[in-house]
Amino acid sequence: MSWLAAPAPQALVLVPAPRDPATRRSAFYGNLGRPLDPAIKSESVDPVRNPYAPGAGQRPPELAGRDRELQQFEIVLERVARGRPERSMVLTGLRGVGKTVLLNTFKSMAMQRLWGTGKIEARPEQSIRRPVAAALHMAIRELAPRHRAPERIEEFLGVLKAFAMRDPSAAKGTSHWSPAIDVPARRGRADSGDLEIDLTELFVDAASVATDLGIGIALFIDEMQDVQPPDISALCAACHELSQSGGPLIVVGAGLPHLPSVLSASKSYSERLFRYARIDRLDREAADLALIAPAEREQVEFTPEALDALYEAADGYPYFVQAYGKVAWDLAPRTPITADDIRVAAPEAEEELAVGFFGSRYERATPAERDYMHAMASVGDEPVPTADVAELLGRKPSSLSPARDSLIKKGLIYSAERGLIAFTVPHFGRYLRAQPV
Ligand SMILES: Nc1ncnc2c1ncn2[C@@H]1O[C@H](COP(=O)(O)OP(=O)(O)O)[C@@H](O)[C@H]1O
Ligand SMILES: [Mg+2]
Repeated sequence: MSWLAAPAPQALVLVPAPRDPATRRSAFYGNLGRPLDPAIKSESVDPVRNPYAPGAGQRPPELAGRDRELQQFEIVLERVARGRPERSMVLTGLRGVGKTVLLNTFKSMAMQRLWGTGKIEARPEQSIRRPVAAALHMAIRELAPRHRAPERIEEFLGVLKAFAMRDPSAAKGTSHWSPAIDVPARRGRADSGDLEIDLTELFVDAASVATDLGIGIALFIDEMQDVQPPDISALCAACHELSQSGGPLIVVGAGLPHLPSVLSASKSYSERLFRYARIDRLDREAADLALIAPAEREQVEFTPEALDALYEAADGYPYFVQAYGKVAWDLAPRTPITADDIRVAAPEAEEELAVGFFGSRYERATPAERDYMHAMASVGDEPVPTADVAELLGRKPSSLSPARDSLIKKGLIYSAERGLIAFTVPHFGRYLRAQPV
């Protein structure tokens, strides 16, 4: 009798593709073209053309509100290329404000000027020796074809190889790693094993190759707060040396808000080496532009009330602007996108942020660290006194140092100033308060 309970064979009947725009995302192989057709009519907001790009380092469809930083970097490039004394730039800010995107834009600007460029992302447990070697290798490969004297390039590559191979972890014999550089390693330069000496010599040599071409070299370091203290110190010293000799090589960094204090704890003169640019939320005008400009290119508009609602929800944080914009676009039945569409979209956008932006970070914390963060969140949203967190938890401040330090190492919180602690992720307190403890 079991055949009676089997599903009716209706499942095999091809039903016409739904015309309702609310279900237009259902794609039925044979009918794939049809459900999309109505969506592409000028009145509708086609999900296929959704321009918004929430995601770490995702290039936004419109880089809004960063004109000042772009201009400053133009000047840096021009001055360095002319051998003028110039401080390099370091971008700081909370997660999701657009540091990586801006750093990548700076890299493109340098490449447009035919500079050699390389980029690394620092990791807490890793020496920068190999990543820097790989990045400078890239930079030199970019400019090598234009260099008239191939022996100069070979000479530099020999030094670069020797530098890379002095990696202490490789010296132990645990690894037979050697960089993919076809020339023999040269002895006696950038291979002392002391990173400060080696980086300085390497940078000076790289800069001199660039000088031959009348250009510069830019090394970009993302998540710079994660560079280990001895390496930060070596890096600052090498930059200091270069700034004195006027060599056209710059190190451009990006990191969390406490990066300036990490740098000055390492070398007191770091403030004179770098120009700090604090990257912050977008103001209302820039946030609107980030939404409107890409939409306009697809003949889609927002009502003024929709923009009000979006600004209130995203609070000007670029990541949130992209996240809300993306969901609102997908769910809106037609242009213009209205405040009602935003209301409908908000729960889905928040859900996606809870998983992708907040949750992925929350999961890195141990139970004790989570307790610490929940206590922070209940004290308030501004930087909170560590003493208040301890009091709330009924603990001695010193007994909480391990949790706090490890949260700082994991990049979830930072010490805003002495005795104050804050989340590196905007709206993280609000997210935590909505979570069951
Ligand atoms: N100026 C901007 N205008 C619009 N969107 C931006 C801007 N800067 C960044 N974004 C968006 O914000 C998100 C986070 O950018 P990202 O560079 O990864 O931030 P961070 O490195 O500071 O954590 C990305 O989705 C990106 O597209
Ligand atoms: Mg980043």
